[in-house]
Amino acid sequence: MEKIIINGGRPLQGAIEVSGAKNAAVPIVLATLLIGDKCIIENIPNISDVSFSLEILASMGCRIRMLSKNTVEIDSTHAEGGASPYELVRKMRGSYYLVGAELGRWGRAYVGLPGGCDFGVRPIDQHIKGFKALGANISVESGYIDARADDELHGASIYFDTVTVGGTINVMIAAARAKGMTVIENAAREPHIVDLANFLNSCGAKISGAGTDVIKIKGVDKLYGSTYAIIPDMIEAGTYMCAAAATRGRLKITNVIPKHLESISAKLEEMGVDIIENDDSVEVIGNLNLKRVNIKTLPYPGFPTDMNPQICVLLCLAKGVSILTEGIYDNRFRYVEELRRMGANINVDSATAIVEGGTELSAAPVKAVDLRAGVAMVIAGLAANGRTEIEDIHYIERGYDDIVGKLRAVGADIKKVIIPSPVSYQKAN
Ligand code: EPU
Repeated sequence: MEKIIINGGRPLQGAIEVSGAKNAAVPIVLATLLIGDKCIIENIPNISDVSFSLEILASMGCRIRMLSKNTVEIDSTHAEGGASPYELVRKMRGSYYLVGAELGRWGRAYVGLPGGCDFGVRPIDQHIKGFKALGANISVESGYIDARADDELHGASIYFDTVTVGGTINVMIAAARAKGMTVIENAAREPHIVDLANFLNSCGAKISGAGTDVIKIKGVDKLYGSTYAIIPDMIEAGTYMCAAAATRGRLKITNVIPKHLESISAKLEEMGVDIIENDDSVEVIGNLNLKRVNIKTLPYPGFPTDMNPQICVLLCLAKGVSILTEGIYDNRFRYVEELRRMGANINVDSATAIVEGGTELSAAPVKAVDLRAGVAMVIAGLAANGRTEIEDIHYIERGYDDIVGKLRAVGADIKKVIIPSPVSYQKAN
């Protein structure tokens, strides 16, 4: 078993570099399957969701070569549809992008149902609605999604009933090779959607409107390989911004697109944190008097749900009562129980957390219950005096590239340790 151990109470100081965005890297890596050619993807984060994606592609017959630590070459020329291993697919949410990629390339997809963090029910009805509109018949049986287009996929008008990042991405991937024009309305507008559209366009796709709520995709017969660099991870950046504020430190967070961080910067400023924005970095200057605020998570450009647990740690440190409302998932507050072990005073009533802040957090043994929940424990551990031990850190490693090394380099007393599994002894007769 691996754990992260933190001796907290030290302000973070210095510069920390943000890696490529997980939620752009996973769909872009998996979308290379659609291309049927050689692609070079740069600024790839070294995280387990990306390694799982590459392993899946390799097992489907793609040739994968790491050209450097953060650059991968993927040649999907000889890949075979329907060949993704169930045990890998179920390890991550983003594996459902294989459905869009296989359907777009072969007109048939056969993929295990995805896994991912547990925030309550996470249906994929909107993905299915989109694929059906493109002409696919879909059945879900024995843990697999089976999608077949009798004829070729054709363009369609699709109105999503809810704003869905995954649905928007999946339909965009499939529609890139469909015959005719697809129009997605009520599309998600996250920066990673724009990044995927830019990648597909660099391979010859004809996608416009990404970043707005209407995306138009004119299907093309053929796509070709390209070299493409992934955008910086706005959630990783936001996480380190919160870590700087929570430790009352001063951090320069580099390799970011400040525009993507606007909703996070605005809330931190409202809490009294000073933020200096540069072209491709932000500087966060924490102070002792954090102010209470109310926050509701929303689709982009609103405050991101993937920052809910991290900002909650700051609300615990701010004087007064703050209200944090979750607007995306029905069960994102599973981490609250862990924060309570550290002395947090939080009451959850369905989608709302009422946070009574102003008390110092105390170090404790805690668990990562999902990716962002896990990293919130890291922030809490950095802020609390004493030794915090975090279990189940494989969740954190799904989305944070070398978090321990990066935080150590800015003054954190943090390490990863391997704890031997308990041995069962047999009594001698
Ligand atoms: N939804 C439906 N039907 C669907 C699809 C979604 O009802 O067919 C609902 C979901 O249940 C949820 C809401 O719509 O309540 C939004 O879900 P969305 O589809 O936008 O989320 P996702 O694609 O499953 C991605 C990220 C998540 C991130 C969300 C929201 C990946 C692999 N995952 O999930 O990332 O929270 O968008 O921004 O890109 C994370 O990085 O920690 C993470 C969980």
